[in-house]
Amino acid sequence: MKISVIGLGKLGACTAVCFSAKGYEVIGVDINADLVAAINQGIAPFYEPRLQELIDRSKDRFCATEDFTVAIEQSNITFLIVPTPSRPDGHFSDQYLQDALRLLSEALRNKKEFHTFVITSTVSPGTINKKLVPLIEKYSKKTLNKEFGIAYNPEFIALGSVITDFLNPDLVLIGESCLQVGDQLEAMYKRVCETDPYVARMSINSAEIAKISINSYVTTKISFANTLASLCEEIEDADVDDITAALGADKRISPYYLKGGLGFGGPCFPRDNRAFAAFAADLGIDAKLAKATDGINQFQNDRLCQHINQICVKKGVNKVAILGLSYKSCTPVIEESAAIKIIKSLLHKNIELTVYDPLAMESAKKMFAETINYADSIKSCLAAATVCLVMTADSAWLEIEETHFVHQLTTLVDCWRLFERHQFGKVAEIIRLGEYNVAWLEGHGIKNLAFSEGIV
Ligand SMILES: NC(=O)c1ccc[n+]([C@@H]2O[C@H](COP(=O)([O-])OP(=O)(O)OC[C@H]3O[C@@H](n4cnc5c(N)ncnc54)[C@H](O)[C@@H]3O)[C@@H](O)[C@H]2O)c1
Repeated sequence: MKISVIGLGKLGACTAVCFSAKGYEVIGVDINADLVAAINQGIAPFYEPRLQELIDRSKDRFCATEDFTVAIEQSNITFLIVPTPSRPDGHFSDQYLQDALRLLSEALRNKKEFHTFVITSTVSPGTINKKLVPLIEKYSKKTLNKEFGIAYNPEFIALGSVITDFLNPDLVLIGESCLQVGDQLEAMYKRVCETDPYVARMSINSAEIAKISINSYVTTKISFANTLASLCEEIEDADVDDITAALGADKRISPYYLKGGLGFGGPCFPRDNRAFAAFAADLGIDAKLAKATDGINQFQNDRLCQHINQICVKKGVNKVAILGLSYKSCTPVIEESAAIKIIKSLLHKNIELTVYDPLAMESAKKMFAETINYADSIKSCLAAATVCLVMTADSAWLEIEETHFVHQLTTLVDCWRLFERHQFGKVAEIIRLGEYNVAWLEGHGIKNLAFSEGIV
């Protein structure tokens, strides 16, 4: 069986190389000529762990083109992994899917064999049956489940570990137009996966709802853990990590995505949760939980910004250094990251910012240009201000030593509790988010009275 993959971006390129590394012949199609050329020269078009290694391993089985006809003529199954940007109403746009499917369907007109389309892009529930199937039938002049089949098969991956997540999933989600299509996909995943995942097969409508429900549920967990962290900041001796470890040991809850820290970000969680609320609203149902989750996420960012501003006022400074810009470690992606939100808020307060991130500097320069300063190392970033925020749980920060601090005294706000409180002696006071800290509480003027006086 030969595979084609339409859209060779952050998820598509990784999907294509995973299939080719496991022995499938893969044709990649993208409208970006530079990206196609890079892949044909054997060069990873962007940074993602293991992408270059798998491109090297599958040189003979993976090539790229801008020609959609080749995908139909030379493969039996086509994965579509093009962008589905969020619309202002929270739903996903399917414009890029329609553009690609129109060209693919026209090419399908002349094909005699059965062809399978697999939609991997995240879509709003109802999109495939109501819009994409009629479009394919119109342009190919063929009939669903007779001459072509379709499946919804979204991935649950995180940037920075796309390839590992793809090859070791907990779950393979397949929404199928007919048994044949589901069987075909399941057999492919059995061959490719390095674990034995649960294969959830269902109708296309169910799979569309399942995809956004999973992400919406995970964001609820994150916001819950973050609320616990905020509470613990007010109570001496309360430790958010002890509490979430206890919660996580309960099978009904599980320990994953249950660490109090910063709000969630990135290209999927925030928008999938909003899409869930938008989908519910279409049905006349108010998804209060999803909306509250979004609100808590916003609150976390506002609260952090307020604290940092207060610390600056108290110290009489207007410079802040920020270590970590991406929405999580090991990726250059800064979309909806907590760091980007805090930078925007602090700029509004006229605070001068110096930033550093091992991977995301170029993305930040595109977004902020001259409005902030860019350090070229951890040390020079720390030297730029006496208030510093560690925004990602990146192992790079563990290299920080006492000698890196040139100011006495630096206030280091450690959002993920990477450092011990007195790790840097007298040169840096560490404020660990999610823990009681007098300096922090002074920052927002809320006293710890309610708890200590037994009011609650
Ligand atoms: N990145 C993630 O973490 C992630 C995770 C799960 C799901 N997804 C979903 O996967 C889809 C793709 O996301 P991504 O992050 O890989 O996007 P991306 O922007 O990194 O890549 C998309 C690629 O599609 C190409 N493209 C656009 N229109 C095209 C067309 N008409 N024909 C062919 N190629 C076209 C672009 O040139 C680009 O290379 C989205 O629906 C996203 O929601 C992404």
